[in-house]
Amino acid sequence: MLETTLSQVETSARARIEAARSAEELEAVRIEALGRKGALAQISKQLGTLAPEERAHAGKLLNAVKQALEEALAARKARFEEEALRARLDAEWIDLTLPAPGVRPGSLHPLTRIQTEIEDLFTSLGFAVLDGPEVETEYHNFDALNTPPDHPARDAQDTFWFADGNLLRAHTSPVQVRGMETLKPPLRMIAPGRVFRNEEVDASHEHTFYQLEGMLVDREVSVAHLLYFMKLLLRHIFGREVTVRLRPGYFPFVEPGFELDIHCLICGGAGCPVCKQSGWVELLPCGLVQPNVLRISGIDPEEWSGFAFGLGLTRLAMMRYGIDDIRLLQSGDLRFLRQF
Ligand code: DAH
Repeated sequence: MLETTLSQVETSARARIEAARSAEELEAVRIEALGRKGALAQISKQLGTLAPEERAHAGKLLNAVKQALEEALAARKARFEEEALRARLDAEWIDLTLPAPGVRPGSLHPLTRIQTEIEDLFTSLGFAVLDGPEVETEYHNFDALNTPPDHPARDAQDTFWFADGNLLRAHTSPVQVRGMETLKPPLRMIAPGRVFRNEEVDASHEHTFYQLEGMLVDREVSVAHLLYFMKLLLRHIFGREVTVRLRPGYFPFVEPGFELDIHCLICGGAGCPVCKQSGWVELLPCGLVQPNVLRISGIDPEEWSGFAFGLGLTRLAMMRYGIDDIRLLQSGDLRFLRQF
């Protein structure tokens, strides 16, 4: 009688252990069968009503069933754990030998590349690399560069003015002035940076572009020195001898002033849209520093002389990489940038 009940409890508990779908279901089965008020506990209470030899036999049976169910529960629980581990491994498994997907190495912006190359050349020649503010005073941008009060470059049509009389620097030349204020002659400096003009934007005009200023002040500096450095610069940039021509150019801060043109590298001088069919590209305005410019910044022009240049970095980058629309440079367009 008791034996039958025991074996029914065991059979039904085993079936439910097998059918359990979660650790919670399994725990419910354990409580119902083996818990303090469970089926086996009920049966064990009836043992006291049995005759002594029967009681010993039934007690053994009860213990055997109890142990068998405990083992079945432990085995099922172990399987749950293994299944969970396998599922996790399946989800997290990675093949370390596969190439990583979608990782692109970054690259330097074409302007940064050219700027760094030129900085390397000039620092190797003893030039300091200077920085200046983008919001400048009228004094540094115009007055100290010997620009007459009525010069058209001061117009709001060309220069971005602030209400307080400051402006967005229209060239990197004010850094010459700042260099002369802080360095004693003889001095050599370059100043790369962003400049701003009130321009109508199109494929060849931007309101924001880059220049690289250079200045050398020493004793008895001549046009020959200027040309020597300019040719060194161009050879360094283009990796070969480039044909240049000098034209007179007017800038209030140099005398004599020049426009240095190079043979167009896009068409080789035959004429194309970049050089406006002339075969030449204006690239490097320069000259000997106007004595007033030295004097205004406290350098005696009787003792010192110098040369200066203002390289159009943006135009140079366009020439070197064959970029035909200036707007691409600041577009942040990855299709453009990934080509470098
Ligand atoms: N600052 C001039 C400009 O933006 C360029 C320039 C011309 C700079 C002659 C110079 C120079 O240093 O000597 O148009």
